[in-house]
Amino acid sequence: MCGAKCQGGTLVSADFDPVLIAALQSARRITVLTGAGVSAESGIPTFRDALTGLWQNFDAHTLATADAFLGDPSLVWGWYEWRRSQVLAAQPNAAHRALAELARRVPQLSLFTQNVDNLHERAGSVDVQHLHGSLHHPRCFDCAHPFVLPDGIPEEPAGGWRVPAPKCQACGGLVRPGVVWFDEYLPADILDGAFNSSRSSDLLIVVGCSGKVDPAARLPRDAKKAGRKVIQINLVESALDGVCTWNLRGRAGELLPELIRQAF
Ligand code: APR
Repeated sequence: MCGAKCQGGTLVSADFDPVLIAALQSARRITVLTGAGVSAESGIPTFRDALTGLWQNFDAHTLATADAFLGDPSLVWGWYEWRRSQVLAAQPNAAHRALAELARRVPQLSLFTQNVDNLHERAGSVDVQHLHGSLHHPRCFDCAHPFVLPDGIPEEPAGGWRVPAPKCQACGGLVRPGVVWFDEYLPADILDGAFNSSRSSDLLIVVGCSGKVDPAARLPRDAKKAGRKVIQINLVESALDGVCTWNLRGRAGELLPELIRQAF
């Protein structure tokens, strides 16, 4: 664990393990896995946070399924449009920018995220692999034809966020959010890519993941089994602590920039 020194809640310095710094400096290939904790500092509630405000009477697990959508398309489409409006109104934070910077410092970095927002892309990361899909790429529920969202930030409609799901321009079917729901499989090509990448990288860096959600939570365990070093950044102890080589306790938006400052 790093000894992060804080003054009034602001990180003033962190004395990272020199072996960790050396591993970062010598890494030719790094794989990064991010979770909701990376977007939390942009004001996006993590998935484990109780749903607040408009959605306080709902449980994400009962909204984020194909059955829930078919049962009440306007409610589920509205929930995702509300989340999309939150993301578009938010800004990438120092953690997103630090990961984009790290990609410019090492020969090869592959970024996989459980997050469905576009904050990594807006911070400058390229080729971001979304394991759980994206709020920004809806498609037809029936024919999978991509749906082009209107520009700008969705405004709350006069009648509230229960808004009719759009119709597919190709077949007239209902347009659904482009995210992976609880009763669905992750995109196999991206998941395979994540396992191959974390097994063959010098370092796997896991940031803001609870380690409670498979199959993504298996990546650190798989990397360790392949003899790779794993760095975890999390505010608190997570289900991954036991498999990580280094567990850095603190805010991603503080520890990641400091780690890169000390290493490069
Ligand atoms: N810095 C670092 N870590 C943080 C921060 C922060 N500022 N804020 C929160 N965290 C950590 C929390 O301690 C927690 O361990 O981020 C983690 C967020 O956990 P989850 O909410 O479970 O999010 P995640 O691990 O990404 O799993 C959510 O599973 O439910 C599905 O599809 C859904 O993508 C979503 C995923």
